[in-house]
Amino acid sequence: MFKRVLITSGPTREPLDPIRFLGNRSSGLTGMNLARVFLKKYAAEVVFVSGPVCRYPSGVTLVKVETALEMRDAFFKYFSGADVIIMAAAVGDFRPAGSSQQKIKKAGFPLVMKLERNPDILKEAGERRTPQQLLVGFAAETENAVKNGKRKFLRKNLDLLVINEISAENPAFGAVRNRVTLLTADRVIPLPRRSKSELAAAIAIQVANLSIMRKNRGVPRE
Ligand code: CTP
Repeated sequence: MFKRVLITSGPTREPLDPIRFLGNRSSGLTGMNLARVFLKKYAAEVVFVSGPVCRYPSGVTLVKVETALEMRDAFFKYFSGADVIIMAAAVGDFRPAGSSQQKIKKAGFPLVMKLERNPDILKEAGERRTPQQLLVGFAAETENAVKNGKRKFLRKNLDLLVINEISAENPAFGAVRNRVTLLTADRVIPLPRRSKSELAAAIAIQVANLSIMRKNRGVPRE
């Protein structure tokens, strides 16, 4: 059904010095399950751009990265050839301004560190995408999930947004099960809490439906 599905997954790591980094709790489990389901049922090729995680899917074109800037470079290398693009990675929004070449010593504390913004890869993808490409983003929201999600959907020019509603009862990051709401241009679809492989299957079905609806509406294929 699809020629190439481009998936980003996992956390990014922003180095503080040769030993330490700023990171996040993403396990990459949702991304890995998405890769599996698309390879099995919907895609000839899956390009998987991933930050450091414990397990990577097999059968994909795997590109391992660490920082957000590396992820951006790898992502845009494969971007134009992809008909579906899924940004499941938990990209760090900021990085230390100039990481230290040497290990930071205790003696230098207290330490004040300046951070600078990382590029928003998904936003840039929304600006550069063609009408033929399907663009899927993720959101992590702790309040007003659907309202904030709708804004994000429009701001980033998406076809589908997967909203993680983060709470103590649904941590999402690093958890095995998750509850999300899917948002398309005309639908809000709350899904019950389920395993990340069931979730990946539900997301893939939505992507396939969007593609069929688009073909029926006559958006020209490349
Ligand atoms: N994302 C990205 N590049 C970044 C940050 C996030 O591509 N530097 C992508 C993620 O892969 C995910 C979505 O954007 O698909 C997540 O956005 P989120 O962090 O929820 O929100 P932001 O757009 O960063 O806005 P805010 O932090 O204000 O909620």
